Amino acid sequence: MAKSLLFFCALGLASAKSKPHILFLLADDLGWANIGYHRTGAQTEDEKQGALEVQTPVIDQLVAEGVALDRHYAYRICGPARSALLSGRQAPHVLVKNVAVTAQNRADPVSGYAGIPRNMTGMGVKVKEGGYRTHYTGKWDAGMATPEHTPFGRGFETSFLYFQHANDYWNKKTGIQATGEITPCLNAFHDLMIENATYRGPYKGADLTDACKHSYEPTPSCYEEKMFEDHSLEIIKNHNASDVEHPLFLFHAFHLLHTPLQVPRYYYDQIEKDVISKGGKSFDSENRRLLMAMTKYMDDTIGNLTKALKAKGMWDNTLVVFTTDNGGPIYVPGSANNYPLRGGKYSDFDGGVRTATFISGGYVPAERRGKVHEGIVSVSDWYTIFSELAGVDPTDTQAEKANVWLKEKGLSQLAPVDGKKGQLEAIFSGSPGPRATEPLFLSGNALLDFPYKLVTGKQVYMVHTGPVFPNCSTISSVKAGKGPDFIDFAVLEKKVGQNPQATRTKQWSLPL
Ligand SMILES: *[C@@H]1O[C@H](CO)[C@@H](O)[C@H](O)[C@H]1NC(C)=O
Ligand SMILES: *[C@@H]1O[C@H](CO)[C@@H](O)[C@H](O)[C@H]1NC(C)=O
Ligand SMILES: *[C@@H]1O[C@H](CO)[C@@H](O)[C@H](O)[C@H]1NC(C)=O
Ligand SMILES: *[C@@H]1O[C@H](CO)[C@@H](O)[C@H](O)[C@H]1NC(C)=O
Ligand SMILES: *[C@@H]1O[C@H](CO)[C@@H](O)[C@H](O)[C@H]1NC(C)=O
Repeated sequence: MAKSLLFFCALGLASAKSKPHILFLLADDLGWANIGYHRTGAQTEDEKQGALEVQTPVIDQLVAEGVALDRHYAYRICGPARSALLSGRQAPHVLVKNVAVTAQNRADPVSGYAGIPRNMTGMGVKVKEGGYRTHYTGKWDAGMATPEHTPFGRGFETSFLYFQHANDYWNKKTGIQATGEITPCLNAFHDLMIENATYRGPYKGADLTDACKHSYEPTPSCYEEKMFEDHSLEIIKNHNASDVEHPLFLFHAFHLLHTPLQVPRYYYDQIEKDVISKGGKSFDSENRRLLMAMTKYMDDTIGNLTKALKAKGMWDNTLVVFTTDNGGPIYVPGSANNYPLRGGKYSDFDGGVRTATFISGGYVPAERRGKVHEGIVSVSDWYTIFSELAGVDPTDTQAEKANVWLKEKGLSQLAPVDGKKGQLEAIFSGSPGPRATEPLFLSGNALLDFPYKLVTGKQVYMVHTGPVFPNCSTISSVKAGKGPDFIDFAVLEKKVGQNPQATRTKQWSLPL
């Protein structure tokens, strides 16, 4: 720490400042091309149309005042990417599969569950140790089998969350459109939870129903993202901003833009009107229109969260981080677009793993605002970055202790933290950073040794999508049984359609 303090002093940066508040914004399944600042410089008519449809003015402004991390790498699917982020490990060192939350291997009480192995230390624990007040809102998807697996067990004092890959934005059940699965309980459960000092269990509020689904209000009260936004705004409102020893760490994990593609009617209508009024063409894909409406909704929410921090006088000392768990899914119904990158969610090509990421907020040094950082940053680095900001050692001593026992029992041991020290200093000073000189394992099949990348084995969704995707011809292709469709469809925990022909199921076409 002494060294990094010295570094900050040398740059005339934060040395005198207190620890910054941290707002971590995690989007779900956001495509590279589904964000405004990746749509600048449109040349062709199609590129201009694509650019018009993506409306993220708040995000674009935050990027203009912050630093875009152009080479940020995550993992090709959500559960492992989130486990990597929250544990500071590369995904292959923490979780490689998106297994169902009920999956269990009784022979291994440490790693034998979905999510982060029980005895690894979570990000929340680290920042809390450094004095932060820690709060979690939104999608978890990093395990739930024991109390240690939940946000509370990972160091978040309060949380308002759902545990699984997705739920229904209206009724909060884990329906097949949300998860691609029919569970042994026939998706009967609501997945929406509360954890705080006095209560840990299901959310029981009146807005657990889909009663407001047909409302024409822009932000109806039972829309899940509205509930999440309200919750995070409460957290900000109740934070004691004069307590400089205990800054705020708020992790806001959107459900947006994951399936099911559901958005308030008002946004759905408005996005079409906006595109037409700006001289664009009408949407020729229902799913693309829904996704763009959802993107606008996310952008508005971010606007409200940042406004609240400003209103509290916290903004000048806030670090905002925005990222997504993986690249956009380009199958139906995911309907994202990673143009001009190749591939999408489930693939190791850049479209699946190079994720739209930036930092912003008053804590970003003035001379770096509006810049693009080209150094390699990994999803596993944030754990270490935040440990350093909190002034704690990122080493996971709990995991080291568990390893003694695991070794004795002949069970697989827990990997140490992979996050690199010095990333934030590198981003703030514009230097290539700690990953410039060594390769980064992206998965068991892919290695990045910039400017080279090795992708091996069988990969799915290897295509390049165009600037306007999915579109009319995508719809025809799906109808003709030529895909792209979802590969991970499961019934009672059995994968259906390992044979690519068999995955071409009609029920995955264009749900509304
Ligand atoms: C914890 O959550 C429960 C259920 O929402 C709520 O009734 C209670 O007031 C909360 N407790 C605290 C300390 O926030
Ligand atoms: C807020 O923090 C300050 C500084 O630690 C403290 O003096 C004050 O009592 C706190 N306010 C509340 C409402 O807890
Ligand atoms: C944002 O804040 C405004 C003003 O309070 C509110 O009307 C709106 O519902 C909030 N949420 C979104 C997504 O716009
Ligand atoms: C893992 O954590 C649980 C819960 O804290 C504890 O009971 C158990 O002894 C730990 N196991 C190891 C191997 O450290
Ligand atoms: C429309 O989608 C197809 C794939 O379905 C893609 O090849 C094409 O480039 C897209 N068109 C545009 C204008 O992006």
